[in-house]
Amino acid sequence: MCGIVGYIGKKDIDGILIDGLKELEYRGYDSAGIATIKDGDFSEYKAVGKIKNLEAKMAQTKDDKSYNSALGIGHTRWATHGKPTELNAHPHIGDYSYVVHNGIIENYKELKDELVSCGKTFVSQTDTEVVVHMFEYYFDKLQVAKDAFDKTITRLKGAYSILLISKVAPTNIFFIKHGSPLAIAKSKDKEFFIASSETPLIGVATKVTHLEDGTSGVINQQNIEFFENSGSNKIKNIKWQELPTSKLSAQKDGYRFFMEKETYEQSDVIADTMMGRISDEKIVFDEIDENFFENINHIQICACGTSYHAALTGQYLFERLAKIPISIEVASEFRYKQPLLQKSSLFIAISQSGETADTLEALKMAKKAGLTTLCICNVDNSSMTRFADKTILLRAGIEKAVASTKAFSTQVVVLWMMSLYIGKTKNTINKTTLKNELKALKQTPKYLLVDDKMHQKCQRLSKRYLHGHGFFFIGRDIFYPLSLEGALKLKEISYIHAQGYPAGEMKHGPIALADEKLFTIALMPQSLLADKVRSNVQELIARDSVVLALSPQTFELADDFIQTKAGEHYMHEFFSMLVVLQIFSMELSIRVGNDVDMPRNLAKSVTVE
Ligand code: G6P
Repeated sequence: MCGIVGYIGKKDIDGILIDGLKELEYRGYDSAGIATIKDGDFSEYKAVGKIKNLEAKMAQTKDDKSYNSALGIGHTRWATHGKPTELNAHPHIGDYSYVVHNGIIENYKELKDELVSCGKTFVSQTDTEVVVHMFEYYFDKLQVAKDAFDKTITRLKGAYSILLISKVAPTNIFFIKHGSPLAIAKSKDKEFFIASSETPLIGVATKVTHLEDGTSGVINQQNIEFFENSGSNKIKNIKWQELPTSKLSAQKDGYRFFMEKETYEQSDVIADTMMGRISDEKIVFDEIDENFFENINHIQICACGTSYHAALTGQYLFERLAKIPISIEVASEFRYKQPLLQKSSLFIAISQSGETADTLEALKMAKKAGLTTLCICNVDNSSMTRFADKTILLRAGIEKAVASTKAFSTQVVVLWMMSLYIGKTKNTINKTTLKNELKALKQTPKYLLVDDKMHQKCQRLSKRYLHGHGFFFIGRDIFYPLSLEGALKLKEISYIHAQGYPAGEMKHGPIALADEKLFTIALMPQSLLADKVRSNVQELIARDSVVLALSPQTFELADDFIQTKAGEHYMHEFFSMLVVLQIFSMELSIRVGNDVDMPRNLAKSVTVE
């Protein structure tokens, strides 16, 4: 979700900033830019797309020199507010200052209105631009750069890491960290480096400090000062640590696999998905007009793989909350079944990558038939986001492991929010229900936190579940699509056969397979159909199937039991179980010695039929 870098020193600053941004490209590559001050001269460059485009643009002017003094900031963007254009690329520029930002300024609209009424002119659609104009507004009044920066950050709501440089303080970089990551490092040669993660710092610096939320400060060539509580004058003492030497492990933030890192990230990531979109009374999607769903009387969703399971989950939420008829189809089936398409239907494509060929073709078919189209996607500027009438971005950050984790949880959160959005528009939910649902949504991040004890238990249990003739994952209601996703995760990375099934349907055939070599993963929530699922599981136990139960309540009849979190809403249980299923699959895959992040025969983005 965007990467930022900064440098103060005497070396080739352009090269240092560009190298740093390349290391952060995994955080987004919609556009990039840098702004520098070299021996007192200011310059800036921006380009759409990957860092190599910015590099090419700078190649004509790049000089590889050392300077008596140099400082600069850089940014690689993953678009959230405004399309990936040069005007929307960072650094954002005021009359005499430059800003880069990672995160989302939630109150940017009101700040923008205020600044416009004071005569400031905006050129981008971003939330970030308010920061640079706000700084200059306060500097013009206060005439002290630090005071203007401090005053600015006290006005911001949301999550942000910000670097600011200005002609009025040409030897300084001002910084603040609040909710988005920021690390500062130093070398033995009196240089300071700043970056969104450790990777750009490895090899160029020796000591690092990862800032805590609320820490602000200012750096010049001689010194660095840290202050407590956003914008105060109270000096903060920080600890410097030795920087690791391996870049690969830094990219994974110490996790063994990208899948593990992405599973652990989910709690933070869904907070980003919800940021600015959820208030006490309603859901806001800036990307669509308020009347977008007005004339829609049916929704058709197409997707593949994990995204298809998110769609199936969404179906329960849409019918329950938005009370709108909805059909879900695997995209490869939809394409050739000669579907009956009506213009009053809304077509939704769900895709992490935005490039999956089957989903893209289904989207094209729907558009050709005259349907309004919407894409729920993680990658802006992908084929699907360019093709669909409207896009809602997942804001999950780049997902590297082939087995999708955080894309799924963010897709489900977006669908949950959308069902409430439609429910409110169409008046199908009353005020109290809406209020309770919004409250439950806001509480969701904590249910996606990975519990150490749970992880260790999955590790231990993985040994017991290696043999046998396969797995059934069973659940009812919304836990049925979750069982499909659990089974898909296991198949993808452990290569063991697994099937998701509705718990109530086992008796109509599959129960014939039950014996001591059939493993059943039973999703047993306490908030939905608890007694019914229990009976279904007992039917399997009576036929000797080995059962691993996931539930907030102890279930003594099961062979093994993992306690999941009870919540106020069934979706809390859903997300708590999701994490267990992801970790369990990963531990099984590790146990059998597979490549967790790049399983055989699969690809992250399947652009063939
Ligand atoms: C591939 C991946 C799956 C993914 C599916 C859909 O098969 O291996 O993990 O769920 O594509 O991808 P999409 O990018 O459209 O969500």
